[in-house]
Amino acid sequence: VLEQKENQMASNGIQPTPHPKNRIFSGVQPTGNLHLGNYLGAIRNWVTLQADYECIYCMVDMHAITTFQNPAELTASTREVTASLLASGIDPKHSIVFNQSQVHAHAELAWIFNCVARMGWLNRMTQFKEKAGKNRENASVGLYAYPNLMAADILVYKATHVPVGADQKQHLELTRDIAQAFNSAYEVDCFPLTEPLIFGEGTRVMSLRDGNKKMSKSEPSEMSRINLTDGPDEIAKKIRKAKTDPKPLTASIEELDERPEAKNLLGIFAALSNAPVAEIYQRFDGAEFSQFKKDLVDLAVVEMSPITMEMQRLMDDTSYVDSILRDGAEKAAELATPIVKEVQDIVGFLRP
Ligand code: TRP
Repeated sequence: VLEQKENQMASNGIQPTPHPKNRIFSGVQPTGNLHLGNYLGAIRNWVTLQADYECIYCMVDMHAITTFQNPAELTASTREVTASLLASGIDPKHSIVFNQSQVHAHAELAWIFNCVARMGWLNRMTQFKEKAGKNRENASVGLYAYPNLMAADILVYKATHVPVGADQKQHLELTRDIAQAFNSAYEVDCFPLTEPLIFGEGTRVMSLRDGNKKMSKSEPSEMSRINLTDGPDEIAKKIRKAKTDPKPLTASIEELDERPEAKNLLGIFAALSNAPVAEIYQRFDGAEFSQFKKDLVDLAVVEMSPITMEMQRLMDDTSYVDSILRDGAEKAAELATPIVKEVQDIVGFLRP
């Protein structure tokens, strides 16, 4: 059967696109501005991965509107998130940087996946349950089908690896289920089984006001997070005012587990200085918070201000950012279009 299929496809003029070796795809929703948690938890890893992979990084604006977004804010956030990736060291000459809605292959493959994924699979998605809340009847169909679009994002490039936080693991499993179901339904070897690259727990950055909550853009208090748009004075102020406890620091892990604010600040120090946490725990064992915070301010300002300053500069240059997104979309479409055509042929869609 396989051979027969290949013959049919060859007569259509489409050669199956070979599976890439090391191709990364990842996405970020352009909603609100990015903060230190996003930087240390995700973006910094994206920068590093450029050395070993062909990387495709996407502002997923179509995912963003699964819950209503103010249109002007969505546009602004798409530029802003792009600016923060560029400022952090994502190199648009090496990696593809674009916004999802500019490459129509994502929507096209997502529809096909809507017809592959089963209701039962989507009903198990914990992120949908969390985001839809109590009033599920009122959630958008898009929010429900969100994981299918995410699978399309990844598989429309036959990506081999996807760097994500632990919260996205279930969506990656679904992506593999969809790839497998498609391959087996049509008796082809079209899609790879994409591997997640899960970021380490160590880079989980917590709120500066509450060490038990993740640093988040939806937290009302600005003092809870360091934004990638903050200048040196704001960075310093937020660290100086960060919540602590009355005791000196300690290297005892058992004790730190009971002192989430101390643990979080030490973790941020370790991440910013690229050192193992254990080493930083030892270094500040017995130190007063006042001294530690001075050191942390110095480190954070040195590490973060070049990024936040470049970010400010890029945000004032929207035509440059827009041109990066346009070029990126063009390159992305070059990779995605033949794969979508291959899929259309497999499904039996008549094409021009
Ligand atoms: N769902 C991801 C998140 O909320 C964003 C995303 C969309 C994504 N498409 C993707 C991540 C594809 C990785 C690959 O973080």
